[in-house]
Amino acid sequence: MNGMCEMDERLIAVEKQLGNSRLEQIKAPFIEAQGLELWVKRDDLLHPIISGNKWRKLKYILADALALNAHSLISMGGAYSNHLHALAYVGKLLGLKTVGLIRGERPAVLNATLADLERWGMQLKFVTRSEYRQLREYKTFNALPNLQAGEYWLPEGGAMALALQGVMELVAEIDIEYDVLCVPCGTATTLAGCVCAVPEDKQLLGFAALKGAGYLSTEVENLIKFSACHNKRWLIQLDYHFGGFAKKSPDLLQFIEQFEQQHAIPLEPIYTGKMFYGLYALIRQGYFTPGQKIIAVHTGGLQGNRAVL
Ligand SMILES: Cc1ncc(COP(=O)(O)O)c(C=O)c1O
Repeated sequence: MNGMCEMDERLIAVEKQLGNSRLEQIKAPFIEAQGLELWVKRDDLLHPIISGNKWRKLKYILADALALNAHSLISMGGAYSNHLHALAYVGKLLGLKTVGLIRGERPAVLNATLADLERWGMQLKFVTRSEYRQLREYKTFNALPNLQAGEYWLPEGGAMALALQGVMELVAEIDIEYDVLCVPCGTATTLAGCVCAVPEDKQLLGFAALKGAGYLSTEVENLIKFSACHNKRWLIQLDYHFGGFAKKSPDLLQFIEQFEQQHAIPLEPIYTGKMFYGLYALIRQGYFTPGQKIIAVHTGGLQGNRAVL
């Protein structure tokens, strides 16, 4: 950690704007038939833009950047990136310049996500796919080559050890007994934060949003290696990716629609839809032990629905 840091007043002001991430129970006969309880931690309600795991992951990264007197935040993402969307918005609130390195060519007409980024003052720089792959190698705040004084680099998805602290706060807020905590995984940083905070007697399940995500377990190990994380009961479900990142099927979209109708909780097909779909499948298969209480974290990301639903 880079010389941590009293929380900057600007960041405290942002935190004061956040909503209440409550726990809501999902009631359905097939869940009760298995003798289970399912709850949702509604982090999507924290904020319409800096929602879900975005706030959790960014909070202490931003605190660090401010403590280092950074004037610019530079990060990377795809054309629909929830991470850049939150970063551009919070950067504007904090009075920091933001730069987004975006995978692919600049489209003739910007999609809604990219248009928001520019509207909030983020400078967009489009990079080739091979340049983008190279950027993934730069994993710490000062790792990007040619950074100038005052520029602070955030790797893709905010996947850095500092992100874990904010995620741990999410876990600390849970004030009911539970046995299993579920989160969706992109970079698996959110899962890594949960691994550090969830007591050792409880189980943790990640649901990979991308295909061939076996490598994510190593990413978790790398993220947690300098923290005191003792929970060994975590694993990542690899079978609910629907063909790959941002791939979807009519079945998944129908599931999301029904879920919202029945529970008044909106999902999106990239992360949370896949997690709940997978979780429902596991419940039906009898994967869990009767009597267990499961909590699934709603990690937000609903802005992405403008592109995919
Ligand atoms: C809505 C949403 N849920 C889950 C994730 C996955 O989080 P992580 O990259 O920490 O695994 C992301 C990506 O950051 C996301 O935008």
